[in-house]
Amino acid sequence: MSQWDGRLPVLVIGGGMISEEVILPTLFQEQREGRVGDISVASRRAATIKHLKEVFPRKEFRGYPDPEKKALAESHPHIYREALSQLKDHGVVIVATPDHLHTEMVLAAIEAGHHVIVEKPLCLKVEEAHQIMEAAGESGIYVLTDFHKRHDPAIRAAKYRYVQGDLGEMLHGHAWIEEKREMPLKVFARWCEHSSSFEYIGVHYADAYYFITGLKPKRLVAFGQKKYLKRDGKDAYDAIQAVIEWEDGSVLFIQTSWVCSEYNSALTNQGLQLSGTEGEHWADHKDRNCHFVTERYGYEDYNPYFFKAFDSWDHPGEVDWQGYGYDSIVQGLNDIRRIEQATLGKPEEEALRIRKEMIARLEGTRALPSQALIGTAINEAVRLSIANKGRFVRFDEGMYPVLEE
Ligand SMILES: NC(=O)c1ccc[n+]([C@@H]2O[C@H](COP(=O)([O-])OP(=O)(O)OC[C@H]3O[C@@H](n4cnc5c(N)ncnc54)[C@H](O)[C@@H]3O)[C@@H](O)[C@H]2O)c1
Repeated sequence: MSQWDGRLPVLVIGGGMISEEVILPTLFQEQREGRVGDISVASRRAATIKHLKEVFPRKEFRGYPDPEKKALAESHPHIYREALSQLKDHGVVIVATPDHLHTEMVLAAIEAGHHVIVEKPLCLKVEEAHQIMEAAGESGIYVLTDFHKRHDPAIRAAKYRYVQGDLGEMLHGHAWIEEKREMPLKVFARWCEHSSSFEYIGVHYADAYYFITGLKPKRLVAFGQKKYLKRDGKDAYDAIQAVIEWEDGSVLFIQTSWVCSEYNSALTNQGLQLSGTEGEHWADHKDRNCHFVTERYGYEDYNPYFFKAFDSWDHPGEVDWQGYGYDSIVQGLNDIRRIEQATLGKPEEEALRIRKEMIARLEGTRALPSQALIGTAINEAVRLSIANKGRFVRFDEGMYPVLEE
């Protein structure tokens, strides 16, 4: 087809928290602005689709499984394949399922010839990251991992000033990211034992250090505690800490937890401190010096930079979603649209060459699989270190984690 209006059809796989709160509002806004076409959502249960239909009553999207036809609580772990087979040309697949399921869905999307945006982390195993890298590389398919912290202006500022040389050479840094206990107890009750506060949120800061400095990790040691969640019958870590040594000898300490008090003033405590030979950077990513105190919600630290609704400038009575959560997904959609436009109407052999060239040019600045690999490797090494009672784990040439003797 050489005629195309530039609207990307999008299939979202997984209809949970991030899809409801960030991905779908982003897609509906992009659809309103004429950049996204048909939207579909495939989740495991029809009840999830029914819930999303209630949350977005005025929006049109196709749901799999169809709540009008399927029992609401029945599990359909492979229904996304039916949705994939029905996704039209120029289709984009957004994978927003639990971390340990990303690989099968990313590979299925690549096989079906669709570009992908996958929620972070790309996957949980280095071997799987290599599989994805290979499959995407061969077919010239774009696979962006949504590491939205890369779009946080505070982190972009740190990167810019580091690259200017203002911090000098890195010495050490400290990152903290901790969420309320409702995450493992309610939101992720079904899969928290397959993940952890490090894999789920800590990886943002492992990736941020790599993004800012371009340095690769050399080795790490990690610790974990099981004290609170086990009282609730969950075999999951309450908190995990990792000390990562990078290839230049600098060290980053990352502190993570997901059992913070329900009374915390925001869902997430987070921030980053960096010290170099020529200067330091310090940013509290929770307390942006902006808060509300209301009778309805009490005291809230308010991060206006992540993903917030504002009165729309151009659509009175509607909202504009804005922030780094939005920018990150839209970066993927825009890249994909450019690739699709550049290859429109070209014979497949030429289209493949153009796709590969365009993706190679984006490789240095985006969380494409070769960059997302770093977060996956650190996640896997953290697990390995903890499983071996805090032994050091180093990375080999393929970034595979190896226990140190
Ligand atoms: N970019 C970010 O900063 C950010 C923030 C939050 C979550 N995430 C990531 O997004 C992903 C989803 O997180 P969430 O918070 O929405 O979790 P969630 O548990 O709320 O949602 C996951 C959804 O996937 C569905 N699902 C499970 N198996 C499926 C299958 N076989 N087929 C189709 N759907 C299936 C579940 O039913 C659920 O609706 C995770 O990888 C998480 O780490 C990223």
